[in-house]
Amino acid sequence: MCGIIGYIGEENATDRIIYGLHKLEYRGYDSAGIAVIDGGALVRFRAQGRLENLEAKIKGKKTGGTIGIGHTRWATHGKPSEENAHPHTDCTGEITIIHNGIIENYFELKEELIKKKHKFASETDTEIFAHLIEENISKGFVKAAFAALKRIRGMYAMVILYSGEPDKIIAARKGSPLVIGLGRGENYVASDVPSFLKYTKKAMFLEDGDVAVITREKVDIFNSGKKVKRGVKEIKWSAQQAEKSGFPHFMLKEISEQPQAFEDTIIDRISDSSIKFENIDPEKLKGINSVRIIACGTSYHAAYTAKYIIEKYARVNTVVEVASEMRYSSPVIDKKTLLIAVSQSGETIDTIEAFKSIQKKAGYSIAVVNVVGSTLSRMLDGVIYTHAGPEIGVASTKTFITQLAVLYMFALYMARVKGEAGEKFMKDGIKNLRMVPGFIKTILKDKQKLENIAAKYCGFRDFLYYGRNVNYPMALEGALKLKEISYIHAEGYAAGEMKHGPIALVDDKTPNVFIAPENALYEKIISNIQEIKARSGTIIAITNRSNTTMKKFADDIFYIPDIEEDFYPLLAAIPMQLLAYYIGVKKGIDVDKPRNLAKSVTVE
Ligand code: M6R
Repeated sequence: MCGIIGYIGEENATDRIIYGLHKLEYRGYDSAGIAVIDGGALVRFRAQGRLENLEAKIKGKKTGGTIGIGHTRWATHGKPSEENAHPHTDCTGEITIIHNGIIENYFELKEELIKKKHKFASETDTEIFAHLIEENISKGFVKAAFAALKRIRGMYAMVILYSGEPDKIIAARKGSPLVIGLGRGENYVASDVPSFLKYTKKAMFLEDGDVAVITREKVDIFNSGKKVKRGVKEIKWSAQQAEKSGFPHFMLKEISEQPQAFEDTIIDRISDSSIKFENIDPEKLKGINSVRIIACGTSYHAAYTAKYIIEKYARVNTVVEVASEMRYSSPVIDKKTLLIAVSQSGETIDTIEAFKSIQKKAGYSIAVVNVVGSTLSRMLDGVIYTHAGPEIGVASTKTFITQLAVLYMFALYMARVKGEAGEKFMKDGIKNLRMVPGFIKTILKDKQKLENIAAKYCGFRDFLYYGRNVNYPMALEGALKLKEISYIHAEGYAAGEMKHGPIALVDDKTPNVFIAPENALYEKIISNIQEIKARSGTIIAITNRSNTTMKKFADDIFYIPDIEEDFYPLLAAIPMQLLAYYIGVKKGIDVDKPRNLAKSVTVE
C-alpha cells in the first residue's frame, strides 16, 4: 500500500511528482503529500483525502525546485488526516521522508527519541525515521541514513531528502517494492513503473536490503555494506496503456482490453499442438506429484479454477490456499511438490511471506505475475508473466483473465509433461483457448444488457452467487467484484452447498446469480435454481447462447457464447465484472478507487 515517488533532474519536480502520484493513486488515497527542495529549503504540501485536494492546495504556489518526493497514503498507523500525511520531517524541517510499509519497533524508538527532546507532529510510525536521521546528520546524509536504517525493524520502501545536501535522494527497500527509473540527466524512484513510464522505460528494481543513493547523473546501490549492481530492464508497457483513453473509468477500459490481453498472453506460447514457457524447466516438473497454489483475493479465484483443470488434465493432486492462512499453517511440502504463486502485482506481502517459509522444501516453484521485475518474479525458480499490461483500476479484471489464460495453458503443459495428454488433446485445448478473445469481444458487444440488469437490481442490499465445478470459483469472484466496487454484501457458494445453509437466506430481497452453462452438471444446477424459485427467490442466470431451457427458470438471463465446458470460466468472468461495474457506477461509487482498498497489499 501507499504510492511513493522521488524525482531528481532538471525539470520542475512538483509537476513530475504530481504526474507520478496520479499513476500511483491506485495504491492508496487516504491522503497525499509532496516535498521539494527549492532555493536550499524544503517546501512541503499535504492534504487529507484524494490527490485532487493536494493539487488544490498547491495551485498558484508551485515551487521551482528540481528535486522532490511525493506520497499517496493507505493508512496503517494513524488516521487519514493532514498531520499523518507524508512526507514527514524531523525537528529542523530539513530532513523529510516518505514511506510504504510498517516500522514495527517505532514505539520504543519514539520513546527513546522523546527522551532526547525530539518533538513529533504525527501519530505515524514513519515520522520517527526522519528524527533518527537527524540524530546523526552531522556525519553527513548518507552515513546518517545508514545509521538510522540499522535501528529499525519491519518492512519498508523509503525515500528521503535532506535540504543540506540537495544533490541526492536516498531510497531504501526491505519488503516493499521500489523501482528506479533511469532517465537522461534525471532519475526517478517509485513504488511502480507507470509513475515514470512517460519519461523513461529503463528500470532498475531494488532488492531487499538495498539502499540507493540517487543523483541526477547516477545511482549507487549498496547492500550489506557493499556496493552492488542491479540489472537494467527495458519496460515494454506504453505510457498510453496507463491512461483512460476516453473511457469513463479504468475499470471499463481494462474490462474492454481483455480480448487483447488474453491474446497477448497466449500468442507467443502456443503452436498448433504444443505449449512452451520461456522460464520453465519441464525436466523439473516430471517428478512432481502434487501442486500447491498460493494466492490472495481475485488471484486466489484464478488459482482455484486452475485446481479443477490441473487435476482433470494432468492428474496431479492440487491444493489451493489463501496465502495469509497458508503462512501460519503446517503444510506438508516435499521435493515432489510444485509451488505456484499467483499474483498480479508480485508484491502481495501475504503471498511473499507464505513462500519464504516453504519454498526451500519444494521441488520447484513458479510465479504467475503481471509486473515484470516484481519481488515474486525474482524470488521463485520460474516465472510466467501474464501480459495484461498495467492495471490501474483497483478491482482486478484483465489481470484475472490473463492469470486464467496462463493457468489453463499450464494445465495443458503439465498434462503433456506428465504423459496424460496426446496431440489431439493438446490441439483441442489450444483451439479452445484461441477462441476465447473473439468470444469475449462478442460478450462486450452485449454489455448494454448487463447495464439494464444492473439498473434493475442496483437497489438490492444482498446478492448470492452460485456455480458448480470450474464455475464455482467464478461465483466467488463475482461476489468479490460486487462487494469491492458496489459495497453490496455478496457471497459466493458452490451451488450444491446451497441446501446446507445459504438457502435460509432466500427471499424476494436477495437476487441469486447463477453461472449455469449447459454442462454435465446442468440438471443439478437447475434443481438448485428451482429450489430457490420455490421460495420466491429471484434468479439472474449466465448461460450459453444455445440454451433454450433457462428462460423457463430465470428472471433475467445473460447469454455467453458456447464453448467446451471446461473453458466457461474464461467467458463467464466477463459478465460478472460488467454487472458489478454497472451496479457500482449506478450507485455513484468511484469504481476505480473503492473505499478502504488499495491495489497492492504490501502490509500484512
Ligand atoms: O497483486 P495480487 O494479485 O497478489 O493481489 C491479490 C489481491 O489483493 C487482489 O486480487 C484483490 O483481491 C483485488 N482487489 C481484487 O479485485
